[in-house]
Amino acid sequence: MRVLGIDTSCDETSIALVERRRILAHIVHGQHALHERFRGVVPEIAARAHVERLLPALERVLASGAPEAVAVTNRPGLIGPLLVGLSAAKAFAFVKGLPLVAVHHLEAHAAAAYLLDPPPEPPFLALIASGGHTLLYDVEERGSYRRVGQTLDDAAGECFDKVAALLGLPHPGGPAIERAGVGGDPAAFALPRPLLDDKGDDFSFSGLKTAVLYLLRRQTPPLADVAASAQEAIADVLTHKAVRAARRLGRTRLVLGGGVAANTRVRELAAERARAAGIDLFVPPRPLCTDNAAMIAVRGAELLEAGVRDTLAIDADPYSE
Ligand code: KG4
Ligand code: ZN
Repeated sequence: MRVLGIDTSCDETSIALVERRRILAHIVHGQHALHERFRGVVPEIAARAHVERLLPALERVLASGAPEAVAVTNRPGLIGPLLVGLSAAKAFAFVKGLPLVAVHHLEAHAAAAYLLDPPPEPPFLALIASGGHTLLYDVEERGSYRRVGQTLDDAAGECFDKVAALLGLPHPGGPAIERAGVGGDPAAFALPRPLLDDKGDDFSFSGLKTAVLYLLRRQTPPLADVAASAQEAIADVLTHKAVRAARRLGRTRLVLGGGVAANTRVRELAAERARAAGIDLFVPPRPLCTDNAAMIAVRGAELLEAGVRDTLAIDADPYSE
């Protein structure tokens, strides 16, 4: 089935056309330049930018083929931005008489791995680390995303963003920290690894940001060393806990997703630790880790194949679990 995917949940305007795991067309319009000076995403600016950009992007994507169904992110995300994509998706599905399916953004981050060749076969464990969420999904069978752990406070991406702000680096902080940390000593500062040895599968990152704040109050350390040390602490906790949970659950496959999975050190350490544990690792290329609509189309196709259809009355759910 040829599925049109739409994602406007945050600050990327994205539309894709995907047919059986093949991307026919894909547009991702970032808005970083619009939000940079505010050191974070301003919801109203994001929503207005989506309004301007969505239909021109749709027009271009439609040049690659006619969709047979429409998949759109309706949860979780920023309410204004979500409503722009959802309204456009409904109108398009209504006018063309196509089936409509609403997609959970974080489940779609996990489903992005299905675009790999070969794709991961369930059962597998998925670590999703983005700007607003950090969680583990146990995917026992196709289409079932059971949450086994999540952050108790800040998300991993949020931690990157907040540490970057403390260091005077631009938003989004993840790529900025990655660049600033090149050549830095990842062991220069012993930053905390919250919940690393805790038996549960939950995460916590707010203490790491606070530790960096106190470090900067005491001294003016080399930027590259602080960036590399913070990145190492985040990568350490994420990959250690994901691999440990996979082993405990008897999963021999691990999937990474979300913007933080675009981080080189996270990818390296995950590969190292998965290999040592005899686990096969599946990591999408970077543009499919950060927000994109191809993953929405893939998760949408999965739902459609399972017979799920949503009505034109479906609403957005910004705080959805
Ligand atoms: O999945 P995503 O694109 O959007 C959300 O659903 O939130 O994730 C965005 C988050 C931001 O916090 C950003 O700083 C982080 O992913 N990120 C990275 C990298 N690229 C994006 N973090 C670390 N290293 C990167 N290269
Ligand atoms: Zn995302």
